[in-house]
Amino acid sequence: MGMMKSMMNWIDERYPLTKVWNEHLAQYYAPKNFNFWYYFGSLAMLVLVNQILTGVWLAMDYKPDADLAFGSVEYIMRDVDWGWLIRYMHSTGASAFFIVIYLHMFRGLIYGSYRKPRELLWIIGVIIYLAMMATGFFGYLLPWGQMSYWGAQVIVNLFSAIPVIGDDLSVWIRGDYVISDATLNRFFALHFLLPFILAALVFVHIVALHKVGSNNPDGIEIKKGPKGNRWSDTAPADGIPFHPYYSVKDIVGVAGFLFLFAAVIFYAPEMGGYFLEHPNFQPANPIQTPEHIAPVWYFTPFYAILRAVPSMGGSALPGVIAMFASILVFFFLPWLDRSPVKSIRYKGPVFKFMIGMFVVVFLVLGYLGTQPATPGKTLLAQICTTLYFAFFILMPIYSKLEKTKPVPERVTE
Ligand code: HEM
Repeated sequence: MGMMKSMMNWIDERYPLTKVWNEHLAQYYAPKNFNFWYYFGSLAMLVLVNQILTGVWLAMDYKPDADLAFGSVEYIMRDVDWGWLIRYMHSTGASAFFIVIYLHMFRGLIYGSYRKPRELLWIIGVIIYLAMMATGFFGYLLPWGQMSYWGAQVIVNLFSAIPVIGDDLSVWIRGDYVISDATLNRFFALHFLLPFILAALVFVHIVALHKVGSNNPDGIEIKKGPKGNRWSDTAPADGIPFHPYYSVKDIVGVAGFLFLFAAVIFYAPEMGGYFLEHPNFQPANPIQTPEHIAPVWYFTPFYAILRAVPSMGGSALPGVIAMFASILVFFFLPWLDRSPVKSIRYKGPVFKFMIGMFVVVFLVLGYLGTQPATPGKTLLAQICTTLYFAFFILMPIYSKLEKTKPVPERVTE
């Protein structure tokens, strides 16, 4: 013990290790009323680490070459020792990442975690989400299957809809007039790079979080409340040290998550064609389109919005604008919500209804995005798109007008 202590002293004189440990873990006071919804931040970090580790190992055998890519993935699945496991951990991890993040964002939505003073924390989150989507998009081309190829073709072509520069821009992105070897090479480079940028963004996200402190299911600022608890006279009375209380609680979340994650990896890695799509078991064929092209499930709500908006004078521009707007609108959430309270617990029935409607509409759009378009489905997608935007655009009105419940002085347990 004496040796440990003197070693720590030696380090602390040269690097603020104990200081950082205390400020961010052992003496970082988080609200004592975290619930189930607070698991997903730490789970997102776990999945990011999983993606980076399995991704680097896949890269040791993967070949980013149009002639070799598909075969190299089959080689990983059949011949590389434990290659199938590494690949399934990575492909399942991609879907798990989006499930975890959607739940993480939903938590922010119901507890008003995007509101003052957490606007910047939220904005960094939305930037992370955009970076995740880009990472998923680049990664999906790599196995060089039919869906990889044609999915990328459809999405890159969207950029052609931009007036004046569109055509040149899409050629610039592809490095060719169609998706080709040049595209595969650059997508591989970007897919390798982006997760490290994500890790850096997550660091910034946590710095922002620790500056303002966590919100909680009551939406009460514990820093503004009374001070003093059994650990410290100056800490918020409703705060408990992150370590060991939440570090241990998060392990429960990790155990539950790993249980489900392993079940999918070992028993349903393709998830009925949702996590690994059937056409992607055929090598990319530039002269044969698959019967039905749809992006992976985590992009389909936005794809449904793209298809729902009618083209104008033969240009897909309105749909493209609507699709990007449906994602970028999240940036503005902190200023759209005018309710005097943060948490859904104290909001009125209209807000609750609107959030419920938003979830249903998001899921329906997600389903519609996986399906071939029919007149009936297009109409439904148009209704859902309208309601999707109504949730955001009308928020300043319905959040302000509605009567809310009184918020208690202290967090409830
Ligand atoms: C790689 C992706 C991400 C990671 C690793 C991550 C990590 C975390 C962690 C560890 C926390 C604290 C624990 C918790 O509150 O669950 C947190 C809080 C938060 N995150 Fe994220 N996050 C990610 C993406 C996002 C995204 C996409 C958004 C929103 C668009 C977001 C918004 C927030 C907000 C608002 C909080 C504070 C919540 C509260 O205190 O109630 N994060 N994040």
